Amino acid sequence: MLLEISDLSKRFGGIRALRGVDLTLGGGEVKCIIGPNGCGKSTLFNILTGVLRPDEGKVIFDGQRIDGLAAHKISRLGIGRKFQVPGILSELTVLENIEVASTARATLGGLWSTLFSGGDGSVYRRHLMDADLWKYADQPASELPHGIKQRLEILMLVARGSRLLLLDEPTAGMTASETNATIQLINEINAETGAAILVIEHDMSFVRSIGRPVAAMIRGRIVREGDYDDIQADPEVRSAYLGERA
Ligand SMILES: Nc1ncnc2c1ncn2[C@@H]1O[C@H](COP(=O)(O)OP(=O)(O)OP(=O)(O)O)[C@@H](O)[C@H]1O
Ligand SMILES: [Mg+2]
Repeated sequence: MLLEISDLSKRFGGIRALRGVDLTLGGGEVKCIIGPNGCGKSTLFNILTGVLRPDEGKVIFDGQRIDGLAAHKISRLGIGRKFQVPGILSELTVLENIEVASTARATLGGLWSTLFSGGDGSVYRRHLMDADLWKYADQPASELPHGIKQRLEILMLVARGSRLLLLDEPTAGMTASETNATIQLINEINAETGAAILVIEHDMSFVRSIGRPVAAMIRGRIVREGDYDDIQADPEVRSAYLGERA
């Protein structure tokens, strides 16, 4: 297993944000985490990235215990996170953003030239093309449409050499076609780089489209794992979602 999370708990005062979360992810696996607002999804990512320390439990990444490590150390081990709000450098162009991200990765080196020479970087060029980003390559990131910005940020995680991508609601605020393009990009990155990917999503239609295993989280616990149909049919998941809408 690339990632093993066991019995993770976290409180904020009287709020029990996580109550014994168990979750595993194999190398090269893609898994979705769904659950209603406030059920602890982002808190889980905050612990995985070293922003927060758990009160109890442990996280093992690639054989090494990482809970409680500093965020920069975890990042260096190859865990990259996309936040709910895009974290790109808005004055830089698309290619410059990718280049900045890739400088954090010693083995890749001069991405700028390899983008054009068919080296390692040609993979990114293909991703940029597939993600409809290539035509924006020389535009400042601030001028990009919302969906393009979000996809750029995902590619930056890849350029950094992340082995585990943590995506927190990557399609929030997107149109249906932007969402589909993002799903394609996630699947392509996974197929081509072998990176494992955990995707937090609120939206069950995303989960249906991406067609990957799902872990359903309710009130700080993973209550069910399975495919879309299993999760969709689960009474506890259904009532949590209905309760939220009511
Ligand atoms: N730093 C914090 N300090 C205090 N309370 C927090 C903190 N972070 C999260 N919480 C609380 O912990 C609970 C879980 O929050 P979290 O952000 O993990 O939920 P979420 O599942 O990501 O929700 P959403 O779908 O709205 O993004 C919520 O009740 C939230 O208010
Ligand atoms: Mg959240």
